[in-house]
Amino acid sequence: MHYVSNKLTEALRSRAGKQPLIVVLTGAGISAESGIPTFRGPEGYWTVGSREYRPEQMATLHMFRLDPDAVWQWYLYRLGVCRNARPNAGHKAVVQMEASLGSCFTLITQNVDGLHSRAGNSDQRTYQIHGNINYMRCARGCSTELYAIPDGVRPKQKHEPLNDNDRKALRCRRCGDRARPHVLWFDECYDETHYHFQSSVETAARATVLLTVGTSGATNLPMQVGLLAAQSGALIIDINPNTNPFSEMAQQAGGFFIQGTAGEILPEMAEVLVNLFSPGGSAAPGH
Ligand code: OAD
Repeated sequence: MHYVSNKLTEALRSRAGKQPLIVVLTGAGISAESGIPTFRGPEGYWTVGSREYRPEQMATLHMFRLDPDAVWQWYLYRLGVCRNARPNAGHKAVVQMEASLGSCFTLITQNVDGLHSRAGNSDQRTYQIHGNINYMRCARGCSTELYAIPDGVRPKQKHEPLNDNDRKALRCRRCGDRARPHVLWFDECYDETHYHFQSSVETAARATVLLTVGTSGATNLPMQVGLLAAQSGALIIDINPNTNPFSEMAQQAGGFFIQGTAGEILPEMAEVLVNLFSPGGSAAPGH
């Protein structure tokens, strides 16, 4: 099955100049085939959760201050879901892109599941703009240091409460105050230190190609990334089983919408990008 049309290949070839920059922006959809629920799908965290609790209240600094145990319990349950998942063909294709394109490649991900790094993408070339559920940091902000969730803290079953050992371990290593999950909450703002805000904006404005994968465009920075890339003339390609703001943005800006799942489409997409844009690829200068 060919997902990448000749028209798309030609549009890409025409942009394979001296210093191309391929930017991949991923959302929860890329991890759906690894068994991690998306947020807004039928089984999504926000959709299902809203029958039992209000996740838009749970994922807030306000809630963490009121009831830190309840918030940790929810994140430790989600941590278990992420740890039980394995990277899929979509994640592996993104690794292939970085391995071949090197400094011509940047990954911006909204996902906190850590699957991109487990698949093999490097921290240097990945901006985790919503954080990473495998890490915590000082809730008071005594330093910006990130700590892996301690080994002694086991992921929870749904509704399993924290125990005293968890409470002791989920503390800042430096000042001993409470630690918080390293994730961006609804009542917080993007910043550079924790969430690579400025770097993402600058990267978007320099993109030659923006490949958006599995995101509904419901959050602010990803939409800015799309708009900035479009304004600077990048070719936008959206991969998603459903139409969404990025598929519309792509089509309006002369780009492409490839309808289908990340796992089925990304391997072929990676092959085409690597072939055209990697140093020594078929469209590299000198060929
Ligand atoms: P959403 O749940 O909002 O959207 C998931 C998208 O993935 C939808 O557009 C689906 O159509 C698509 N999708 C589903 N299965 C797919 C597959 N196999 N392959 C490709 N696409 C697929 O998730 P996000 O857009 O990532 O933020 O949500 C953005 C942010 O909203 C999250 O990072 C989270 C949430 O609030 C924070 O927690 C800060």
